[in-house]
Amino acid sequence: MNREDFFMLNSDISYFDNGATTLKPKCVIAAMDKYYLEHTSNIHRGDYDAAIKTNELYDNVRNIVSEFINCDSNTCIFTSGATMSLNMVVFGYMKKHLKKGDEVLLNKAEHASNILPWIKLSEDLGIVIKYVPLDDNYELTLDNIKKMITDRTKVISFAHVTNVIGDVRDIKKISEYCHSKGILVNVDGAQSVPHMKVDFKDSDIDFLSFSGHKMCGPTGVGVLIGKKELLEEMDPLIYGGGMNSFFEEDGSYELKSVPIRFEAGTPPIAEVIGLGEAIKYLMNIGMDKIHEHEVNLKKYLLEKIKDISNIIVYNKGTNTGILAFNIDGVFAQDSSVYLNHYNIYVRAGNHCAKELKDEINIKNTVRVSMYLYNNYDDIDKLIEVLRNSKDIFKIII
Ligand code: ALA
Repeated sequence: MNREDFFMLNSDISYFDNGATTLKPKCVIAAMDKYYLEHTSNIHRGDYDAAIKTNELYDNVRNIVSEFINCDSNTCIFTSGATMSLNMVVFGYMKKHLKKGDEVLLNKAEHASNILPWIKLSEDLGIVIKYVPLDDNYELTLDNIKKMITDRTKVISFAHVTNVIGDVRDIKKISEYCHSKGILVNVDGAQSVPHMKVDFKDSDIDFLSFSGHKMCGPTGVGVLIGKKELLEEMDPLIYGGGMNSFFEEDGSYELKSVPIRFEAGTPPIAEVIGLGEAIKYLMNIGMDKIHEHEVNLKKYLLEKIKDISNIIVYNKGTNTGILAFNIDGVFAQDSSVYLNHYNIYVRAGNHCAKELKDEINIKNTVRVSMYLYNNYDDIDKLIEVLRNSKDIFKIII
């Protein structure tokens, strides 16, 4: 759908690397251009017309996010991306509230951004990381979470949708159970928020992180949403202009209220404006429609791929547009180079989920990750090329 809005699709490229980043519709680029061409100015500082217009546009993106995700606009913090958002939770909130021996539950399908900060925190504080085992389909279940909880478990941190397996975790059910045990729930929404309806208040999770560039928005901008009372207790990681009410020679200072205190310095203004436009674009199409389209494409792909005997698929059952596979006996990167020869763009490797190998027993996979603008022709082309992959080494050497 909407292929005409994406300049790169005016070619024979089949873009299947949406888990890494998405294409940007013309309206997002136009909104950013307009800011640069017509009212370049900083925010929350100037009293002239261009600055007032920029303030209004920037501040209004919080309202757009709040409508999109169902959160209060004053609990929406603009960050540089999901990685920064997750680091803010770990080093701004958890570092202050956890102590030696406290346990955090992770799992091995997580992206680096949701494991490495915890490893560093465990080095700093002596907290204990426990990995919830995945089930036979490499999915995270509440039953397995329950088995790992002890009196010392203080927080669980997991992706709503994982970036390789693509399973959808039931954030509401997990949150309800964990809260009944006094456990905080931190969710990485980088691979879910762009693709399906996510409701912050209804799911009752404590923190939610996501990136703009994976949802038709620009790079360099993301969001952290948190419950207000938790954000009040979180320390900024960055101090500077724009986030303080005063500071004095004697060392006294006062920070502005949440969320402004977390946005020190000049923020990515054009990018926030672009993100607002991207969210409006997605809402206009409808998140349920996007999700349904991707799932239908994946079903179609699975139906076709099952007849190609040398393809190994790792995540048949998951309800998203992500498919991880290998051509039997072929290194994933070689498969990716082969597909590129036909203008089919995928990602190959460990996809930054470096511990997943312990669960699926293979280090590297080829990943197809779909979005609203992929169509059945893209899939037919991919299938045709995979069907002919016996010639792969003639092509790539
Ligand atoms: N997290 C991104 C991916 O899965 C970069 O490709």
